[in-house]
Amino acid sequence: MNFFRLVILSFTVFPCTLFAQHASIDKKVDSLLSLMTLEEKVGQLNQLSSDFAVTGPITKDGDKQDRVRQGKIGSYLNVTGAARTRSLQEIAMQSRLRIPLLFAQDVIHGYRTIFPIPLAEAASWDLSAMEQTARIAAVEAAASGIHWTFAPMVDIARDPRWGRVMEGAGEDSYLGSSIAAARVKGFQGKGIGNIDAVMACAKHFAAYGAAEGGRDYNSVDMSVRKLYEVYLPPFKAAKEAGVASFMNSFNDLNGIPATGSSFLQRKLLKGDWNFNGIVVSDWGSVGEMVNHGFATDLKDAALKAMAAGSDMDMESRAYVAHLADLVKEKKIDILLINDAVKRVLYKKFELGLFEDPYRFSDEKREQAVWNNPAHVQVAREMARKSIVLLKNEKLPALNQAVLPLSSSANKKIALIGPLVKAIGENNGFWSYAWPDDSSRVVSLWQGVINKLGNASSLIYAKGCEITGADTSGFAAARKTAALADILIVSVGELATMSGEAKSRSQLQLPGVQEQLVKEMVATGKPVVVLISAGRPLVFNWIADHVPAIVYTWWLGTQAGNAIADVLFGDYNPSGKLPITFPRSEGQIPIYYNYLSTGRPFKSDTDNTYVTAYKDLPNSPRYVFGHGLSYTTFQYGALQVNTSTISKDQPLQVSITVTNTGNTAGDEVVQLYLQDVVSSIVRPVRELKAFEKISLKPGQSKVVHFTLEPSAFSYYNDSLALIAEPGLFHIYIGGDSQATQKASVTLL
Ligand code: GLC
Repeated sequence: MNFFRLVILSFTVFPCTLFAQHASIDKKVDSLLSLMTLEEKVGQLNQLSSDFAVTGPITKDGDKQDRVRQGKIGSYLNVTGAARTRSLQEIAMQSRLRIPLLFAQDVIHGYRTIFPIPLAEAASWDLSAMEQTARIAAVEAAASGIHWTFAPMVDIARDPRWGRVMEGAGEDSYLGSSIAAARVKGFQGKGIGNIDAVMACAKHFAAYGAAEGGRDYNSVDMSVRKLYEVYLPPFKAAKEAGVASFMNSFNDLNGIPATGSSFLQRKLLKGDWNFNGIVVSDWGSVGEMVNHGFATDLKDAALKAMAAGSDMDMESRAYVAHLADLVKEKKIDILLINDAVKRVLYKKFELGLFEDPYRFSDEKREQAVWNNPAHVQVAREMARKSIVLLKNEKLPALNQAVLPLSSSANKKIALIGPLVKAIGENNGFWSYAWPDDSSRVVSLWQGVINKLGNASSLIYAKGCEITGADTSGFAAARKTAALADILIVSVGELATMSGEAKSRSQLQLPGVQEQLVKEMVATGKPVVVLISAGRPLVFNWIADHVPAIVYTWWLGTQAGNAIADVLFGDYNPSGKLPITFPRSEGQIPIYYNYLSTGRPFKSDTDNTYVTAYKDLPNSPRYVFGHGLSYTTFQYGALQVNTSTISKDQPLQVSITVTNTGNTAGDEVVQLYLQDVVSSIVRPVRELKAFEKISLKPGQSKVVHFTLEPSAFSYYNDSLALIAEPGLFHIYIGGDSQATQKASVTLL
């Protein structure tokens, strides 16, 4: 066959193949559905957790395996391991129609190999790296019988009091959308049905990150326009990336619980966006509509959730208890049940579970995948890229910046603080504790030893615990410090202080850790502070008095090695903050893409009659996009290919970036856009593009961006995306304060 015939054939065959695959699954689904009783249909919409790894308030209600045998459970979450999933699947094969179970798990930032928490990974701004870690997580989870991960969490969050900021990609819709798509592609790989792909799940739909006061599960109230502009884009990006499922959210949105919102689930998701995957409720959220005061009882909740488009009921047992009766009483149309069941069965066919229910439960494959050294290396690389250098000043005595440290043996290094030898903490929330963690997870202490080859030049003092008021360890810490040339102080939260149901009203370092740092600074020795947390913390004294500060989040399995790589300069830090760091909880919500207001802030000295607090500087402690390097980068003049553009014309933008230091480094070049005058006021600037580049000392690179017409658009009150004629400013730089500027007029 000649080449052209082959090309033509492939174009004709390929879509047909894909179409044929879908058509054939649709046919199989329809024929299976026709055999199912009403009770069996309802059973497919019932998802229960195992008792092995509990991620919510568990209900003990007898033998679940019997219900599997009776076809009353369609999906299980929190069942881990090839052996366990196989044994449960064997029970499912005893049901009348032998419909296999779907196994789901919160594989949020790794499964066997734990990667940095998602907020830390977002600080890398490295989309291919984030896709890669999701890919590895999927490979490891799929080998352990898991078909479905409840990730990526794509909630935009502007309030670090909310513990779940750790689970997302921070405050920006553009960055969050880019990361959402990358993570979905990583989890789903070459597509559902491949043996190393898992179904991804965009959650929590929607606007869960805007919980009032940062209090988890709290109400959310905002204009639908703001919902479209800020909170929905990452979900839309996930849908366009082909995400297999959505999870709705605990919160009410403008007075309607998301689980009972037909606007969100039927009109928007399944209607406008034409989503044909599964919508699963969040843990018990169907039943929680009674607590919301939206449903009179569990039966009413089942009615409202199904009517609103929530296909599968996680853990509330409302569907399995009441849906059949609601159909018999003609309160729910069987067509709605059929649609939900078809969505579930479609995925089970697509996963190949009817051909081979055990294809994901292969213990040999599990062992091989679990111990792949390449996964660990990727974890180290991702951890290094996630670290953010917040401050790195010269010390007079040193006449150079404190970091990177020299690894020469004649320097005595003191490692001080409660997180120096911490192991499991490094995995952060939404990770799994494995029996061999003590040998697999690398502590800071072990990472520095690995770097130096031995501990001969190291000394250690814990100083204090993470929490509590006990300062009795300070004396030993002072003694240790006196023997050292430089002090590395590792402080932070407990890993369980951020995550679900972990909202905090104050964000200071817990316990007496800040006092420990003060003691160490008082010794007069050079001090480096490492802060580990799942969220922005407030540490003003440290920020003002310590010359070198490194934000180390929770970096996962390779934490200690990655931190040592940065401390000793084997990796030049390149992380940039994906979320604003406040000076005080009182500033929250504080984010970079705010509106100007009629009395915009001018300066801290001229702040009468302006939008500002009188009792602290108006700026955040660290801005969105902030992150230092061991080298310096210079931005040249910003070039645009035209000063006037029409509505359907892309704009070409370029800028030369030069590494003006003496160390190779990576820089995240960020492009922000301002619509100066508009019918609905626009943020003072918005991230519209970014590129992470690598430059050798002295090297320059011309970075090109193409701004599509959509970049100039925004949602108007009718929820139409419009671009209005007028002046636009473009800013490019290494953080959201970017100053290189050019202007264009949209005609
Ligand atoms: C939890 C979380 C959700 C998670 C689910 C299952 O409550 O809100 O993100 O996927 O329950 O663990």
